Amino acid sequence: MIKNATFLISNTDHTKCPPPDKAEFAFIGRSNVGKSSLINMLANNKNLAKTSGRPGKTQLINHFGVDNKWYMVDLPGYGFAKVSKSLKADWEGMIKDYLVNRDNLVALFVLIDSRLEPQKIDLEFITWCGESNIPIVLLFTKADKQSRPKTQSTVAKFLKASKAIFEEAPLYFVTSAESGDGKAEVVNFIEEQVEE
Ligand code: GTP
Ligand code: MG
Repeated sequence: MIKNATFLISNTDHTKCPPPDKAEFAFIGRSNVGKSSLINMLANNKNLAKTSGRPGKTQLINHFGVDNKWYMVDLPGYGFAKVSKSLKADWEGMIKDYLVNRDNLVALFVLIDSRLEPQKIDLEFITWCGESNIPIVLLFTKADKQSRPKTQSTVAKFLKASKAIFEEAPLYFVTSAESGDGKAEVVNFIEEQVEE
């Protein structure tokens, strides 16, 4: 369980992030998939990361310090149609530089909307993660929005699609920022990694 999480700094440049002296866990996924909401749910603080019904809310690399033991990072979303191509390229460069260069990154949580059929952009992104040796864990979000069988069916489809990319299907959790589903599982996973 997270006792204390505080905002540290926002950056566009990975070299200006906090010193890589603690285990780091970052959250990424399509715009509006629920990254910031999930961070707030895990931290038991609705006001920690800024959320919005409009996609494109998070635009920087945001570091939070958790229990003086690890870093939690809220990243901007990918795949948001309403920004210019050059801005998109800037964001992509910023995020990929961060992911490739951040030595203390223990896991990247890739958030997937549990209501949708496998999306090309998500499969492309996790393919890049595989090629770049970024350790990923999938988090299926917004599970409260539909029945459990429907969630299970989209999760199964996504895992099947990801088998074409990874030899072994990635670890995954089903979550809801609304109901708190998956909170204990995700926090336990993180804390296990931090203690090792
Ligand atoms: P960007 O920063 O724009 O990339 O978006 P984000 O991925 O951080 O999404 P954010 O957390 O801001 O949430 C987007 C919208 O989805 C908001 O209206 C949230 O209230 C809603 N939302 C997020 N998670 C959940 C969830 O688990 N259940 C439900 N019902 N709504 C959610
Ligand atoms: Mg956000």
